[in-house]
Amino acid sequence: MTATKGLEGIVATTSSISSIVDGVLTYRGYDIDDLAVNATFEETAYLLWFGSLPTTPELQTLQRDLSAFAEVPEQVIAQMKLYPKTANTMAALRSAVSSLALYDEAADDMSREANEIKAVKLQAQIPTLVAALARIRKGLEPVAPREGVSIAENFLYMLWGKQPDIVSVKALDAALVLHADHELNASTFASRVTVATLSDIYSGVTSAIGALKGPLHGGANEAVMKMLEEIGSLEAVEPYIRAKLERREKIMGFGHRVYKNGDPRAKHLMKMSQELGTMKNDTTLYDMSVKIEELITGQKGLKPNVDFYSASVYTQLGIERELFTPIFAISRTSGWTAHILEQYEDNRIIRPRAEYTGMLEQKYVPVDER
Ligand code: ACO
Repeated sequence: MTATKGLEGIVATTSSISSIVDGVLTYRGYDIDDLAVNATFEETAYLLWFGSLPTTPELQTLQRDLSAFAEVPEQVIAQMKLYPKTANTMAALRSAVSSLALYDEAADDMSREANEIKAVKLQAQIPTLVAALARIRKGLEPVAPREGVSIAENFLYMLWGKQPDIVSVKALDAALVLHADHELNASTFASRVTVATLSDIYSGVTSAIGALKGPLHGGANEAVMKMLEEIGSLEAVEPYIRAKLERREKIMGFGHRVYKNGDPRAKHLMKMSQELGTMKNDTTLYDMSVKIEELITGQKGLKPNVDFYSASVYTQLGIERELFTPIFAISRTSGWTAHILEQYEDNRIIRPRAEYTGMLEQKYVPVDER
């Protein structure tokens, strides 16, 4: 038995949800480039869950269900108010999502129908939790969700407590489409491993949030923004990056396990970053990001991934850094739950082997003789 570190190149399951072939990402056979400019997040989530784009009545039903489920139990809001204000937002979200299960009597109902309802419910409630966490951290009261609006619009409304502008809603909606699913990424794999024991969907999503939090995965978008803040100006980019590379430190937002010639999602976020900067008459963050890309691609041959330009996009939308990875979680909930439903459909427990590298033939020695 020989281990493959990081399971690189290992094909661990079959899936009909999303694929990456020759650097092209598709959801259910639709190219991400097509969906990014044409589809809404609700259409995308429907596509991931049910395998086809929705008709108008199907989309209306989904939007109605998402609205109906968006409120979260008051006990969960009360618990969130007791979390330390300084807690990591992803850690807080992980706890809050785990709590949701306690107030859902159908949490352990393993029928397909019940799990589909819970997938939609989680998709509706996670944006409410993230907006509430953000407001509670600032000492503000959470804002209740509104009916009849998209997830992107509702999220910004609950976050800011006022009607968001159309440009911000459209930009966030496109970002949600781009982050919705990504084959067997680390957090999706974590969710599938969890539910493959026939544990419930809330446990699967809680595991996924824990995996997404790390800076080598979803946490990279916050690390990118931290870097941009540390650099501070366009002139400071070159010395900062050169020093980091000399110290052989990783530059967050670059590189990818699967894409070696560039992440197809990055160009859409790059364009959005430029457009938002131009609209605000301040392209500093975009210009700094482009300069970093030039240096890293030039010197290391590494290309930006989905996290790199999403940092400047969210900041220019007026969203605080601590919410970047939770927003990723809002979007990826669609993909996680689609994969969980798929795992349940044709389940086998996921239990690989380890190549043992420890000591052999040890003999027990009583404690007073050691
Ligand atoms: N900056 C500098 N060097 C890098 C970077 C980077 N961002 N990424 C990879 N490298 C280098 C490594 O140091 C290594 O060099 P070496 O062979 O000389 O030691 C080589 O490229 C291969 O890198 P690995 O880390 O082994 O590649 P792996 O496939 O295991 O990791 C990963 C992929 C985790 C994405 C990695 O590129 C990374 O850490 N990037 C920064 C974090 C990041 O942006 N994560 C988000 C990924 S996208 C997502 O999850 C949403």
